Amino acid sequence: MRQADGKSDRDRGSQAIVSFRSVSKRYDHKSLVVDNLDLDIVRGEFLTLLGPSGSGKTTTLMMLAGFEWPTSGTIHMDGADITDLPPYRRDMGVVFQSYALFPHMTIAENIAFPLAVRKIEAAEKKRRVAEALDLVHLADYADRRPSQLSGGQQQRVALARSLVYKPRMVLMDEPLGALDKSLREQMQMEIKQIHQQLGVTFVYVTHDQEEALTMSDRVAVFHQGKIQQISSPIEIYTRPQTRFVAGFLGETNMLEGTVIAMNGEAAEIRLAGGAVLRGRAGEGISAGGRAALVVRPETILQERGSSNALEGRLTDQHFHGDHIRVRVSLDGGQSLQLKIKPDICGGNAQVGDTLALTIPEEGALILA
Ligand SMILES: Nc1ncnc2c1ncn2[C@@H]1O[C@H](COP(=O)(O)OP(=O)(O)O)[C@@H](O)[C@H]1O
Ligand SMILES: [Mg+2]
Repeated sequence: MRQADGKSDRDRGSQAIVSFRSVSKRYDHKSLVVDNLDLDIVRGEFLTLLGPSGSGKTTTLMMLAGFEWPTSGTIHMDGADITDLPPYRRDMGVVFQSYALFPHMTIAENIAFPLAVRKIEAAEKKRRVAEALDLVHLADYADRRPSQLSGGQQQRVALARSLVYKPRMVLMDEPLGALDKSLREQMQMEIKQIHQQLGVTFVYVTHDQEEALTMSDRVAVFHQGKIQQISSPIEIYTRPQTRFVAGFLGETNMLEGTVIAMNGEAAEIRLAGGAVLRGRAGEGISAGGRAALVVRPETILQERGSSNALEGRLTDQHFHGDHIRVRVSLDGGQSLQLKIKPDICGGNAQVGDTLALTIPEEGALILA
């Protein structure tokens, strides 16, 4: 598969810390929950597994942690086959949505627990716990119990506990799911900072697309046990390779039509209403085939361009402060969502008006 930075999978293989090869998983003889997964995790990266509920993210993470085993396929870490290795021999820090702290132990004892299990001697243990407490800004809370801390603070303790024995990787499964929005955003920044500070490989699971886009070096989009696309956040957002990825990440318009010409990287599509538009050609489209022109609402310009112009009738508009959401209907019955800046709109377009629009060719994708 082509990657955002132009490197082939072969190049990545050499810097991979973990490689999944043809990994499938089924529970109880039912359908495949993870379906023939190939995945290279790059050393030091922040990789997010993103997808709707039930798409196989947690199962993939649990196979990496060693709490679940593949039905078939292999997982290698640093060249060694770890497919059947128990969790405690994989050297991975794991953080779950539920903090799973020990209620009867202090914060310092909770964080020290993995070191005690590993029989690290007392002075070293004390030093590392202090370091981990500093890292998550909880130095003053060492002697409290978990019940005396807020949800966000408890999750920081869980994070410190996962980092304290310097694991080879940190795995996190929806760790911020229980927190309210502002605390979640603050923790996203803190986790990202810790990643940058430590340089350890992070694999992070979420169903929140915004969280995935802000935190990650790469995002793997899961759908029905398969990775639909894996690339940088910008690539995933601006160049989705499938309709599923386009629809799952942010708002998008999909205008149905027929491909009428292919021209290298570009293609032309005729919409049901007759308009002909050019866009970047997605994989697997061919002249004569059905396809959709995929364009983000914020990409469409309210002006008459020299190419890729079309007209639509304004059916409704809503003011949202920093932008106006506009819906127009096109000839042929399809409709289009736009997000425009208030100053450009001027506020004087009315429902029923005909608007001249332009879809910049580089912002339009034609997908099968
Ligand atoms: N222990 C289990 N036993 C049986 N089915 C499971 C088990 N864990 C998960 N599943 C099923 O596997 C599918 C994928 O689940 P999961 O990996 O948790 O997805 P996600 O984390 O993306 O929501 C779901 O349909 C779920 O019901
Ligand atoms: Mg899950």
